[in-house]
Amino acid sequence: MTLTQLRKLKREGEKITCLTAYDASFAHLLEQANIDILLVGDSLGMVIQGHDSTLPVTVDDMIYHCQQVHRGCQQALLMVDMPFMSYATPNLALKSAARLMREGQAQVVKLEGGGWLIETVQLLTERGIPVCAHLGLTPQSVHQIGGYRVQGKTERGAERIRDDAVALQTAGASLLILECVPGDLAAEISALLDIPVIGIGAGAGCDGQVLVLYDILGITSGKRPSFSKDFLQETGSIPAAIEDFVKAVKEGTFPGQEHTFK
Ligand code: KIV
Repeated sequence: MTLTQLRKLKREGEKITCLTAYDASFAHLLEQANIDILLVGDSLGMVIQGHDSTLPVTVDDMIYHCQQVHRGCQQALLMVDMPFMSYATPNLALKSAARLMREGQAQVVKLEGGGWLIETVQLLTERGIPVCAHLGLTPQSVHQIGGYRVQGKTERGAERIRDDAVALQTAGASLLILECVPGDLAAEISALLDIPVIGIGAGAGCDGQVLVLYDILGITSGKRPSFSKDFLQETGSIPAAIEDFVKAVKEGTFPGQEHTFK
């Protein structure tokens, strides 16, 4: 899978599938279900390392898990999160992203944030590093936002996300993740942008969907987010749960209204 093929899927109206992966065995299973994108998410800080946020995760942690996922990845696009503070300045971002690609074998780096990242996105993409932007709920800013809550509910908030999305595309971003925003706003942004928009808690109007693997397998410690779904409960096996997620996204039956914010 390449970024060019993902753009073609968007143009043709075929939904894009993405799940997080943190090791080679799960990467291999996800590949067998023909997943389009594997995301080595910094959610590993919570679901693998047991922290209560993604903030403690380091570039070395991300490289370690990215190397494992790469060993199980043959066809999917391999995307990795840049962890907290690893892109605080454009030059630091360049250094961290180069390590994630050279040592971790990532094909795309993902970073969280809006307008302040324009210069960074330009710098990375001009030097051949594909970037996925991430707007809406940005978990690395959890303390500033004041919790894991839906973003873009006010007119002003929605306008900021819309403007940031356009500016990040113009700066060179190849993909956008929208997390926890009202379904109507996400659908509007997906239609507005040429680049694929992948939603998580952003409704069915996005060009694709991403979820945390452990949520769809029902092994999240604590409460599963309301926008997610335990696919293992209905299918009874891990491979079947993953296949069911891929099928539901491709057929447009996930996410439903019950997984969507107003
Ligand atoms: O870290 C992660 O798993 C993510 C997804 C939730 C989009 O960024």
